[in-house]
Amino acid sequence: MVRKRIIETNEGIQNEVTVDIFNQFAKTMRDKGWNNVDSFLKAGITKGNVLEIGPGPGYVGLEWLKESENAKLTGLEISENMIKIANQNAKEYGLQSKVDYVQGNCLQMPFDENSFDGVLSNGSLHEWEDPLKVFNEINRVLKPNGIFCITDMRRDVSGILKWMIYFSTKPKKIRPGFLSSLNASYTIEELRELLKQSRVNEYMVHKEFFGLRVSGKKS
Ligand SMILES: C[S@@+](CC[C@H](N)C(=O)[O-])C[C@H]1O[C@@H](n2cnc3c(N)ncnc32)[C@H](O)[C@@H]1O
Repeated sequence: MVRKRIIETNEGIQNEVTVDIFNQFAKTMRDKGWNNVDSFLKAGITKGNVLEIGPGPGYVGLEWLKESENAKLTGLEISENMIKIANQNAKEYGLQSKVDYVQGNCLQMPFDENSFDGVLSNGSLHEWEDPLKVFNEINRVLKPNGIFCITDMRRDVSGILKWMIYFSTKPKKIRPGFLSSLNASYTIEELRELLKQSRVNEYMVHKEFFGLRVSGKKS
């Protein structure tokens, strides 16, 4: 039986020390190529005005942007400390003219309706205080036919896999955070139930080896 979900945070990753540890971890994930960029591209998010929810230090969106020549990226991030690092990283990638990081909460996005051709997000869903609101916001800010793709961990992953990943996660200091994120993540069934109640009506939920993915479009 899958254990009950335990909320990890409703405010994102704010603390400077935690942000620094997360940045080290996200860099190792980037270097291994474990960033779900392929999922975003395969979903059809390849160009135009694209929103990333919860970019953190930015590597995922920046790696995606490297592959998407005719695109501009807006990152909506609740944590100012994360935005500082994301801006530095955008400079290191030489992509600062194509990215804009905005501080704000995805429960109430500071954007007009029909603003984006695509919305992507990795590893942030489990931190959203009210994910139903966020899916409705995604639907609002997407242009008609705009595409979204959201990836995250899933709580119904097998115990063996969970511990294998736990012991291979670096730096070691991130391991307790890895477990609390996993405990806060959704199961495939929970995500399906949630989406049924949302205004999004064209979507598919996919079970991945370690995580989950929901992709769809605004019809
Ligand atoms: C676990 S990190 C993932 C970062 C990055 N997407 C990655 O895959 O490396 C989750 C990020 O989502 C941000 N976040 C959490 N809740 C948020 C919200 N309500 N609105 C905007 N950003 C949020 C956190 O501050 C954090 O930077």
